[in-house]
Amino acid sequence: MAYTNTSPVSKPFVISAIVLLFIGSIIGSIWIMSLYGIEISLEILSTTPFHRILQLDGFLTLLILGIGYMIVPRFRNELLPKPKLAYFSYGLVVASISLTFFEHMEIFPSFLSDVLRLGGIGIFSGIVFFLVQIKPKLLRKSDYFIVMSIFIFITVNVLEIIFNQFEYNFDPLSQIQLWLLFPILMIFGVQYKFLPSFIGFMRPKNVTGNITIILACFSCILGILASLNLNEFLPIVFSFVFLSTSISFAISLYIFGGFDNSEIKKLFHGEKKARFQYLSILTKISFSFLFLAIVVGILYRIYPDTFAYYDLTIHYTSIGFIGFTIMLFLPMMLPPIINKSIQFLKFNKFPIFLVIAALSIRTVGDFLYLSSNSIKPAGFEYIFGLSGWLIVIALFVFVIMIHRSMNTFSSDIQTI
Ligand code: HEM
Repeated sequence: MAYTNTSPVSKPFVISAIVLLFIGSIIGSIWIMSLYGIEISLEILSTTPFHRILQLDGFLTLLILGIGYMIVPRFRNELLPKPKLAYFSYGLVVASISLTFFEHMEIFPSFLSDVLRLGGIGIFSGIVFFLVQIKPKLLRKSDYFIVMSIFIFITVNVLEIIFNQFEYNFDPLSQIQLWLLFPILMIFGVQYKFLPSFIGFMRPKNVTGNITIILACFSCILGILASLNLNEFLPIVFSFVFLSTSISFAISLYIFGGFDNSEIKKLFHGEKKARFQYLSILTKISFSFLFLAIVVGILYRIYPDTFAYYDLTIHYTSIGFIGFTIMLFLPMMLPPIINKSIQFLKFNKFPIFLVIAALSIRTVGDFLYLSSNSIKPAGFEYIFGLSGWLIVIALFVFVIMIHRSMNTFSSDIQTI
């Protein structure tokens, strides 16, 4: 897409999201060590409830709001309306996260942070709903994924506020999977629009695209019902429909092939070739993790004593799919936000390798330490407990790599 305008509003969102991701991941790394049996002091362990808050309400919420404010207007070549309101929504979300800490000390009532967060989300949703009424020139279907994503975002938060007052027992895994549907559908919306043009100038498959949208609608409805813990089969039905949605999406975007781009590839040299290779490797890896996460979630329903399946469903999705997709798109989304271009030629595969190594070690570690019949081999917990820290190192390496690849803006580099 042509470079039209910069999006300074997104900057505080993206920077805060990355800072919270670091803190949340450090807390998660300590938590996994303690689950594997390494002794950690009680003061440090008392931070573990903040892991979920920092990763979901902090990192993912702020990142998606920031990127949404940049990308939805750019889809239709418009400027962001009411940037001051967008800044206000940032203030509300940050205030809500800060309040959560005081709520844990019981200084403030627990619903106050929920209400502030909902205010921020409401502003974001209002601005996006206003913008999607403007018809884009191409690929209107991507808007359907974005609207569904926001619908899920609002629903999860409203349900949480209402039902928490009655101490209602959600199905824990389905509730997290439903929450993660928000970033996943947002990612689908962005990828539907941009991925084909970045990896071979193709349009998505029309019929499969339509089928994906219908399946995604069913996934949203079933996900909400499954999270409400009405029936033990609903989470399994939800998982199967969601797996079909993801496979159908991958087919419609030719993620694992299905079209001959050999002629187009010959035209790619230098920077374009590096970007093409980076994108095609990361999309394949990220979608493989998404499929795996959903299958592992189904296995957890069959073997609920194996906590490993629970942990891996969440983290194959959050680190394997969402994390790799962010690594894929961030270099293309940052230029309009920071007004600098990023050169893919200067990238290396070290962060990708580190994350895959971390998730592989975690998979083995989880089965050795986190299931009913686990053998818990003494002495090895320190090796498996390293998995979280490898992710933290990967984050550092990725941030340094992006920093080293920055140039002053050059208009011939393609961005989102
Ligand atoms: C360094 C990377 C990470 C480590 C070491 C880590 C570790 C953990 C551990 C030990 C748990 C408790 C066991 C469990 O419920 O599975 C957990 C739960 C969780 N993690 Fe992570 N995590 C990491 C990254 C992330 C990311 C990036 C996200 C989301 C963006 C995330 C979201 C969650 C959620 C939603 C839970 C469930 C909490 C609950 O049950 O209330 N984690 N994590």
